[in-house]
Amino acid sequence: MAESKRSEWNSNIAFIMAMIGSAVGLGNIWRFPNVLYSNGGGSFMIPYIISIFLLGISFVLVEYAVGYKFKSSLIKVLYSIKTKLEPVAWFIALIVFLITTYYICVVGWDLIYVFLSFTKAWGSNPDLFFSNNVLQASDSISGMFTIVPMVFLSVLALWAIGWYIVQKDLNEGIGKVSKILLPLLCVIVVVIVVFSLTLPGASIGYTQIFTPDWSALTNLNVWLAAFGQIVFSLSLGMSIALTYASYLPDGSKLTDNALIVAFSNSGFEVFNSIGIFSILGFMALSTGIPFNELVTEGTGLAFVVFPQVFNIMGPWATIIAPLFFLCILFAGITSVMALLEVICYSISEKFNYSRRKSATIVCIVGFCISILFTTAYGSTFLGIFDAFLNNFALLFAVLLECIIFGWIYKFDDLIDTLNENSGIKVGKTWKLVIKVILPICIFGLWVQGVLNTIASADYISQIVMVCLSIVLILIPAIFTILPAKNPDFYKKVSR
Ligand code: PFF
Repeated sequence: MAESKRSEWNSNIAFIMAMIGSAVGLGNIWRFPNVLYSNGGGSFMIPYIISIFLLGISFVLVEYAVGYKFKSSLIKVLYSIKTKLEPVAWFIALIVFLITTYYICVVGWDLIYVFLSFTKAWGSNPDLFFSNNVLQASDSISGMFTIVPMVFLSVLALWAIGWYIVQKDLNEGIGKVSKILLPLLCVIVVVIVVFSLTLPGASIGYTQIFTPDWSALTNLNVWLAAFGQIVFSLSLGMSIALTYASYLPDGSKLTDNALIVAFSNSGFEVFNSIGIFSILGFMALSTGIPFNELVTEGTGLAFVVFPQVFNIMGPWATIIAPLFFLCILFAGITSVMALLEVICYSISEKFNYSRRKSATIVCIVGFCISILFTTAYGSTFLGIFDAFLNNFALLFAVLLECIIFGWIYKFDDLIDTLNENSGIKVGKTWKLVIKVILPICIFGLWVQGVLNTIASADYISQIVMVCLSIVLILIPAIFTILPAKNPDFYKKVSR
């Protein structure tokens, strides 16, 4: 194998672009505006900014330092730290894999909307169109045996795109695609935001972002929401940063890079939400619907509210609507390829597969699982997977990583690694954050997530979640037991 093992970014800019591309995704475009609005608008920015430093940058730095130091996949890193930690690494890789299988479907819905948007094919009732025509959603579990052809084809296309990018050499695939899609994404967002500010009623929307509700600051849930947004938005715990940093050449400025990535990601979501809120302000003014009834999360915002806005926008919608859906598509693709790289690298390192072989296996198996979400019951499955994997499993993974790198690994070595070449130095405060403060915050968030998930789980959700829990225990155990085909795998990286 070890094509992928030898891979190295050909420039720092390729690494930064790929990292920003991995972070900027659906979470920035449709999750952030809702979280911002429902947690006090302007005053949310205070917990949010604190979370960027306390949680986001601090944790990204751990992954950077570990990836850069070990120059290996997550599996090999944890195996090298302690042999018994290998199943934990497979557990994290499996969470990332399962998240990819449904995340790619949402990007698939968006791909369909890119085409629909040219003719505004959703008609006068986008809500009904989305559930009846696009998802062909059924309330009955028997819907899981009916594949929705359009969604199926779109998801197949995205797995093919993901495979094509990841099986290529690192710089030719992920590096090149990031360098093309990220600037395009920025141009599109600038066009949308500038245009949205010219709409009548825009100020009704964007002033919400800057109007603080100070009482929100004393609400613990607002702080947890800020932490949660940073975890999602910066893709923490998924070991994307660890994987990408393992391809960095010696002498890289890790801390400086982490700051650039974290600020670009947050800058993107705050800037983008100015556009989203302005457009919603226009909608509120045009239809008389109160602003707070318009702000929804996820699919509701992108595939229902926005098509409604495009319906009343006039001729400009012919340009803005395709741009909006393209923006989500590009953001989604750059995140999908990062998620895939984490899994492919781990598999190729243990089983001695070439990039192409591991990408092919991962994408075929992944596509087979995604088929579940392309059925008439797929969107319900997707909601259950998302609630379980994001609120429960992923946060648990972040917690485990904090404990492993903070307490089991020689943490002080990471401080030296980070300070080696970076202009900005880290020290004892960072250590305290990773070892104590962060685990406490994440634990709080995790308990909240678990309670919410349990409270809202119906009978089918409970069954699916039990099945997922069994899979998350069994598969990592099997992957750990399977012998490595790469003899070097058992030679621990002593760092
Ligand atoms: N950070 C990306 C986003 O905000 O969409 C990628 C991502 C985050 C993918 C969280 C999946 C996920 F669960």
